[in-house]
Amino acid sequence: MSEQIFNPNPEHAKDAAINSMEAYWKLQNHAIEDYEGFWKGFADKKIDWIEPYDTVLDESNAPFYKWFSNGKLNVSNQCVDRHLAEKSEQNAIIFEGDKGDVQHITYAQLSKHVNKLANLLKNKFGIKKGDRVVLYMPMIPEAAYAMLACTRLGAIHSIVFGGFSSEALKDRIEDAEAKIVITADGAFRKGKPYMLKNVVDDALSDGGKSIEAVLVVKRNNEEITWVEGRDHSYNELIKAESEECPFEPMESEDPLFLLYTSGSTGKPKGVQHSTAGYILWAQMTMEWVFDLRKNDVYWCTADVGWITGHTYIVYGPLAAGGTTVMFEGVPTYPDAGRAWQMVQDHNITQFYTAPTAIRLLHKTGEEEPKKYDLSKLRVLGTVGEPIDPPAWKWYYEVVGNSKCAIVDTYWQTETGGHVISPLPGATPIKPGCATFALPGIMAEVIEEDGTPTPVGEKGFMCITKPWPAMIRNIWNNPERFKKSYFGDCKKDGEAVYFTGDGAMIAEDGYITITGRTDDVINVSGHRMGTAEVEAAIKKHDSVAAVAVVGKPHDIKGEGIFAYIVLKNPSEGNEDLKIAINKVIKKEIGAIALCDAIAFVPDVPKTRSGKIMRRILRSIVKGEAITQDTSTLEDPSIVAIIEGIVKKS
Ligand code: WTA
Repeated sequence: MSEQIFNPNPEHAKDAAINSMEAYWKLQNHAIEDYEGFWKGFADKKIDWIEPYDTVLDESNAPFYKWFSNGKLNVSNQCVDRHLAEKSEQNAIIFEGDKGDVQHITYAQLSKHVNKLANLLKNKFGIKKGDRVVLYMPMIPEAAYAMLACTRLGAIHSIVFGGFSSEALKDRIEDAEAKIVITADGAFRKGKPYMLKNVVDDALSDGGKSIEAVLVVKRNNEEITWVEGRDHSYNELIKAESEECPFEPMESEDPLFLLYTSGSTGKPKGVQHSTAGYILWAQMTMEWVFDLRKNDVYWCTADVGWITGHTYIVYGPLAAGGTTVMFEGVPTYPDAGRAWQMVQDHNITQFYTAPTAIRLLHKTGEEEPKKYDLSKLRVLGTVGEPIDPPAWKWYYEVVGNSKCAIVDTYWQTETGGHVISPLPGATPIKPGCATFALPGIMAEVIEEDGTPTPVGEKGFMCITKPWPAMIRNIWNNPERFKKSYFGDCKKDGEAVYFTGDGAMIAEDGYITITGRTDDVINVSGHRMGTAEVEAAIKKHDSVAAVAVVGKPHDIKGEGIFAYIVLKNPSEGNEDLKIAINKVIKKEIGAIALCDAIAFVPDVPKTRSGKIMRRILRSIVKGEAITQDTSTLEDPSIVAIIEGIVKKS
């Protein structure tokens, strides 16, 4: 099946934003021949500049690139105000709650909500340009209002995914030195209320000293504890605020938001995005990759706590003047038809989700899509991890009725938006293949010295020219920024951006992503750093040493497998495994729980003490050990561990 090719549906292609490979190459060749001219053309056309910029790309302080320097704009204007003349009565957001409650929020209404909240943040809490605001929010419209209200004032938001624990939240608050947390009492999932505010309370109980206030949105109306003087009710205070709040003119390079993500070592890093470059690319990719058109209703199932939720629930669709669906619940509740019911009820034209959700929907309800009218769908998207052929085939044939394009979008928190993806009206698709770099993106599969990796072999997935939406810095850590992304590969002697992923290029130029080359695990499309999980496990008193690796998992793609050496080996039992997982839940959150734990007498280490993870990965996959084990401190340990894992 891998060599089967699926051509764009001619019915859909004829009016698509990029409607042929000739059109694609015309754009890409323009970028190759006149890189700055290419970007200037789009920046001038797409952005509502308050003041013009003076240079397109400033490379004088590489890799701290600057785009559209000295230009002024405001992202909430780009996403809301500028649409009001023509689209005030169009839905900006369609919200569906877990229990099926629906809200239609027009651009006019969105504007009022955003302005009022911006006024509240400014007048009551003194939030101004450059301040950091942490959002710990469920999937409710107020999350989008809060993001846009921050951008209106020029405050930098840092959203922390609601599945992260109080410890993880505290770390992120402290790293960003945030002034305020916006949260909710909780929300609903699978018909039941769950809580968020208590996690904020815990995070602030012994840290997060920079926080001056907590603003709480009511969603599930459950009882919550209230700290007088610190906690404030959004629902009460918002009533008094005016619907007019002038937006702050921001410089192109002012930080727009921080989003913490995992690396292969150390603590999560605060990926810092810029204002102009980010919003330009969010909008362009929305128009190209999802082929967003008038009257479309677009639904991305991600959470706002991840980059996909930033770029492709809020910023991209709204900058493009589209209608974006926000969903509080899970696509399998109350049954495996929920997602398809929503596609039918809201007349959804583009549906964007992760392979892990596709596998789950496939397994739990293979025939479910056939019960609903999904005929409005044109584009189906996937993101976060490679999609396997059975899931792809089901998505294409059953969900898309063999009529929709599947856009396998490859990108990262750091790239801001898609970088390699099929275009629905142009690209002949090979299942499981991200296909080609988008116009303007110079993606190359290379060796460390910049030579092209031979066809069919694994190389480093690099982007060899800066692009507008790229990460600008790691918050407060420029050295780590340089080392993490510009430390591995060079081209023509210059450091180039390395994604951390491996890739293969085929004879015909198609690019297939082969997965991370570092110690990052991809659990349900979410990045988990092994170092982070190991640091959490080490907090349990019984643990002497630990090594964590990814283990293939039917639904999640990868699950977390921990090899643990105990201080007292006789303690190793099922209760201890539960207790260790409890520590992980406290330190990081339920998303980092181990699927399996093996207590082992030691982990394979080189004589210099480096853990040989590759061996541990092979063991967990049941693969034969092909690595040279003679350099190990104790080669006999490999067979012992193999025996333990086989038995478990
Ligand atoms: C992986 C998510 C294969 C990759 C937007 C990358 C993918 C990491 C794909 C980024 C894809 C993302 N095919 N792998 N289409 N999309 N990845 O930062 O390993 O949460 O480096 O951003 O997900 O994860 P992040």
